[in-house]
Amino acid sequence: MRKYIVANWKMYVGNRESIALSRGVLSFLRGKTQLPEIILCPSFPALNDVHKIIAKSRMKLGAQNVFWQENGAYTGEVSASMLAELGCQYVLVGHSERKEHLGETEEMIQKKMQAVWQQKLIPICCVGESFEQYQKGNTFVVLKKQIENALHFIPRNGREILLAYEPCWAISTQKKSEVSVKEVVEVLTQIQAFLQQTFSEERAKKIHLIYGGSVEKNTAYSFLREPIVEGILVGQASIKIHQFLEIIQASCEVLEGQP
Ligand code: PGA
Repeated sequence: MRKYIVANWKMYVGNRESIALSRGVLSFLRGKTQLPEIILCPSFPALNDVHKIIAKSRMKLGAQNVFWQENGAYTGEVSASMLAELGCQYVLVGHSERKEHLGETEEMIQKKMQAVWQQKLIPICCVGESFEQYQKGNTFVVLKKQIENALHFIPRNGREILLAYEPCWAISTQKKSEVSVKEVVEVLTQIQAFLQQTFSEERAKKIHLIYGGSVEKNTAYSFLREPIVEGILVGQASIKIHQFLEIIQASCEVLEGQP
């Protein structure tokens, strides 16, 4: 079984720090055999330099956003083909911070998913409920709608997708995740059952379920050792090199402990 560690550096760090972080991870990985899939998602300006550093390693490059059009008069936007040209293999789509601060809608998310798919990039599709929805017990209803929308144009059989469950209220809390591992496992189990019903079992297997929301070194291991949690999406803890390396180390330990 594979485990994914996605580092979302958000707008926390620019090119210089992204280079330093990438180098730090690269030297830590040297000599290690059993590794998770590590996907670094720096800000747009840092993609090129980070790619140069990790190109020959087992790490992969991801972007934090994408525009759905291929090219044209869309000032400030970046297309999926431009990301592919820079060496990106993954793209975050539908992150809740974009919904909250930039008015990203479900319709936009659907178009972005399509654009990413057509360019043969792997989407890391984020879904999650608000605190109010969580309190009302509506988590799964909300997630189901978001997933249906995001996967609407994605072929029933085909390449892999990462689906990140990120409760909006658990992101960037600056403290230990308030969501328990048990709750995450319950939600992911529901998502998995839904995917198996909606698509074929074969298709569902290629939709890897990961969790994100204030994961840090002390919680990474307990999330990752759950078989249904195929990976974690890490924000703030991934820009502190020591924390991030401990998270990678935790995933290595989980992998080594697996049959
Ligand atoms: P966080 O971010 O780890 O800082 O909560 C996760 C994310 O937003 O993807």
